[in-house]
Amino acid sequence: MNLILMGLPGAGKGTQAEKISEKYNIPHISTGDMFRLAIKEGTDLGKKAKEFMDQGDLVPDEVTIGIVEERLRKDDCQNGFLLDGFPRTIAQAEALQTLLANMNEEIDYALHVNVPEEQLVKRLTGRRICPTCGATYHVMYNPPKEEGICDKDGTELIQREDDKPETVRTRLDVNIKQSKPLLDYYQEKGYLVTVNGDKEISVVFQDIQAELEK
Ligand code: AP5
Ligand code: ZN
Repeated sequence: MNLILMGLPGAGKGTQAEKISEKYNIPHISTGDMFRLAIKEGTDLGKKAKEFMDQGDLVPDEVTIGIVEERLRKDDCQNGFLLDGFPRTIAQAEALQTLLANMNEEIDYALHVNVPEEQLVKRLTGRRICPTCGATYHVMYNPPKEEGICDKDGTELIQREDDKPETVRTRLDVNIKQSKPLLDYYQEKGYLVTVNGDKEISVVFQDIQAELEK
């Protein structure tokens, strides 16, 4: 199954992607995670991405498209893939379309997780992540068993640099502007499926499964 997961920052893409990837046995490919790893490792890609991410801006298309193309050509994508946070511009969507055509592949669904804007600010500012395993928590909606500590490996949780309140607003504005044309693009192609993301995490996942298994 070839899936795209769409939604504004904080909609729950990463949270749902983890579950979808496990259930359907397809790799979870998050451009945001790839950039964060590159920053941590101090690579050239990381240096390029950091200046945009810290401001809440999008990383330029040519950089982003390049890393996704490279990733989709890896062997573990033969059974399908789940793209989280890509494409985010029409140029990226068109590049993906061309790449998949060359690989004799097609998108099955573009899943849009829809959450009202006022919820997103609360979700983003309350998010905490594990720097070791990447697990995502929320101080109120999805707290770890022990405050501030990852359930899986005991690491102290941190706040993402771009989840600071001053950056959150810019990220939302930048993404809201990009999202409408992209939703229209996938609607026209007949791939778009919208799920209400303003429910409990487990309920959103059930709704997603129901859509994928229709
Ligand atoms: P990226 O990492 O993709 O960030 P994003 O799109 O801003 O999305 P988030 O990771 O913030 O949110 P999410 O939807 O995954 O929500 P989550 O599940 O964590 O990108 C970061 C940056 O990289 C971009 O700003 C850009 O600079 C760059 N970039 C990435 N891709 C790019 C591209 N294609 N082109 C150009 N630049 C790109 O959930 C959020 C919180 O809510 C968590 O705390 C979670 O526990 C909680 N939560 C989740 N679901 C629920 C629920 N149902 N109810 C209550 N709480 C919930
Ligand atoms: Zn962890």
